Amino acid sequence: MRITETADLWYNNAVIYCIDVETYLDSTGSGTGDLHGITQRIDYLAEIGVTCLWLMPFYPSPRRDNGYDISDMYGVDSRYGDHGDFVELIRVAHDRGVRVIIDLVINHTSDQHPWFKAARRSTDNPYRDYYVWRADDPGDTSDQAMFPDEEDGIWTLDERTGQWYLHHFLHTQPDLNTANPQVRDEIAKLMGFWLQLGVDGFRVDAVPFAINQRTLVGMDEHEFEEPHDYLRELRGFLQRRASGQGSAIMLGEVNLPHEEQVAFFGGENSDQLTMQFDFFTNQRLFLALARNDAAPLAEALRSRPTGLRIESQYANFLRNHDELTVDLLDEDEQDEVLDAFGPEEDMRFAGRGLRRRLPGMFNGDPRKLKMAYSLLFTLPGTPVMFYGEEIGMGENLDVPGREAVRTPMQWSSGKNAGFSTAKPSQLSRAVTHGPFGPEHVNAAQARRDQSSMLHHITRLAKRYRESPELGWGDVTVIDTEVPQVLVHMTTWENRSMVLLHNLGSEPTIVPFALEDLEPGTPLVDLLSEESCELDEDRMTRMPMDGYGYRWLRVANEDDHRLL
Ligand code: NOJ
Repeated sequence: MRITETADLWYNNAVIYCIDVETYLDSTGSGTGDLHGITQRIDYLAEIGVTCLWLMPFYPSPRRDNGYDISDMYGVDSRYGDHGDFVELIRVAHDRGVRVIIDLVINHTSDQHPWFKAARRSTDNPYRDYYVWRADDPGDTSDQAMFPDEEDGIWTLDERTGQWYLHHFLHTQPDLNTANPQVRDEIAKLMGFWLQLGVDGFRVDAVPFAINQRTLVGMDEHEFEEPHDYLRELRGFLQRRASGQGSAIMLGEVNLPHEEQVAFFGGENSDQLTMQFDFFTNQRLFLALARNDAAPLAEALRSRPTGLRIESQYANFLRNHDELTVDLLDEDEQDEVLDAFGPEEDMRFAGRGLRRRLPGMFNGDPRKLKMAYSLLFTLPGTPVMFYGEEIGMGENLDVPGREAVRTPMQWSSGKNAGFSTAKPSQLSRAVTHGPFGPEHVNAAQARRDQSSMLHHITRLAKRYRESPELGWGDVTVIDTEVPQVLVHMTTWENRSMVLLHNLGSEPTIVPFALEDLEPGTPLVDLLSEESCELDEDRMTRMPMDGYGYRWLRVANEDDHRLL
C-alpha cells in the first residue's frame, strides 16, 4: 500500500466531528453559539485528531427542526455570524489540516422559504411544482409520519389552494419535488456556491426520502425514471466542481439495511454517495451491548456489502444529534435496547429511540465507555463523533425532545460551562446538570487529566490515523468461544490488524487462531506493552480485562511503520 493513497481518498481514514453551531461556543455573549466560536476551537479539535468538521445547519431558519427547516439555503443565520465568519472558519480549519463539510438538505425547505411562499399562492404559480401536491384527500398516513408526536400524517391541506402538500417531517418542512429539473438545477447551484466558498463536501440529509419514488411518481409530469439517477447526477456535479481542490464528499443519511444501502453507493460503480452512515451496525452494536454478547455486532459486520469499490466508505458512529434509533431491529430486540439503556419513558423518543448520550446509558461506567469508543475507532470505516462525546457529556432530559442531547458544550466548570457569558436565562439551550454537569465533566479539566475520556479519544484517533488498514480494510470476524468478546481483523493489501473487544464486565482469556498467518507471527499491541506471537498452531490466548480492548498490529518485517 502506498501511503499517498490515503491522502487521495482522505475520507477513508478521516476522523469526523459534528458540531451544532447553536451550542458550541458563544463568542459574543449573546447566549447562542456562533461560527467565530468554532474557529476559536479549531486548535482544540486538531489536537484531538479531528480531521473533518461536519457543521449542522447554520442557515436562516425558523428553527422548528433545529435548523433543518431552512428558509435561505445560501444564507448564514445572523445569530451565528455572516459569510465572512464562515470563510474565516474554513480558512483556519484548512490551515490546521481540518476539512469542513456542511449539511445539505435536499428533501425539504422551511414553509417560510420564498419558494414555498410563492408556491402556495396559486396552483399555477411558477414555483408550485417545486413542491409535491395532490388534489385528492390522502386519507390516513399517520403510520408514515417521522415525528408522530407532532404530526398525524405526511400530507397537509393548504387552505388557500385546496390541495395537500407532502412533508415527511414537520408540516413546516414541505418536501421539495426533486423530480423537477428546475429544483435539481437549484440544488446543484447551491452545492456549487458552498464548494466555491471552500467546503469539502456535504452531509446529505434524509436521502431515501429525497429520492422517494413511491411518493413522487405520478404526481406531476417530471417523473423519476430511475431515482438513483438523481444521486448520480449530484455526485457527477460534485466531482466536476470539486476538482482542483481535492476530492469532496457526499456523506448520506440512509437509515436502511445494508443490502438496500448498496444502491445508494451506486453499487460497484461507486458513483452516488461517497459515504453512508452505518445505521444497521450502529443498532446491532447497541443490541450487542445490551446483551453483553458480541454476536449481533459480528452478524452486522459479516453482512456488510462486499464488492464495493474503495471509493465507497462507511461512516461509523455511536451517538449523533438525533435520537438513538432502533427501527432496524425487530420488535423484541428494540425492547431489549430500550429497556437496557432507557428504562424510563422520559428517556425515549417517538417510541423508536432514545434521547440520551452514551454516559447516561452506561451509568457513567468509564471502562464500558472507553471500550465503546475503542470499538468506534476500530470498526471498519470512518469514525464520526458528536460534539461533547470526547469529554463524556451527558444529556439533559429537562430539555424537550431530541434537544436533550444538544445542550451547550461544556468547556469549563465556570459560568454556563464556559459556553457563554450571557445570563443563564438567555442561553439558547440550558446546560446539563447532575452527574454529567460541567462541574464534573468539562474540557478544561479533561485536558489536565491523563485518564480522561479526552486523552483516551485523542490516543485512539492518533492510532487510527496511523493505521489506514482500519479505515480502508476488509473485515473478517474471527471465531472465538468467548461470546462476549468480538475479535475482528481488518486487512488492506499486506497490512492487518486484529482487534479484540470485551463487551462483558468480567476479565476473560480469549483463545483464537489466525489460520492465514505463519506460526511465530508477532502481534504487537499498539496501546500497551503486552504483545504476543502466534504459536505453532497459529493460535494465541489473549487475556482481557472486563470491558477490555486490544489493538494488535500484525508485525510485518517489510513495513517501516513505528510499532
Ligand atoms: C435528519 C436530521 O438528522 C434530523 O435532525 C432532522 O430532523 C431530519 N433529517 C429532517 O431534516
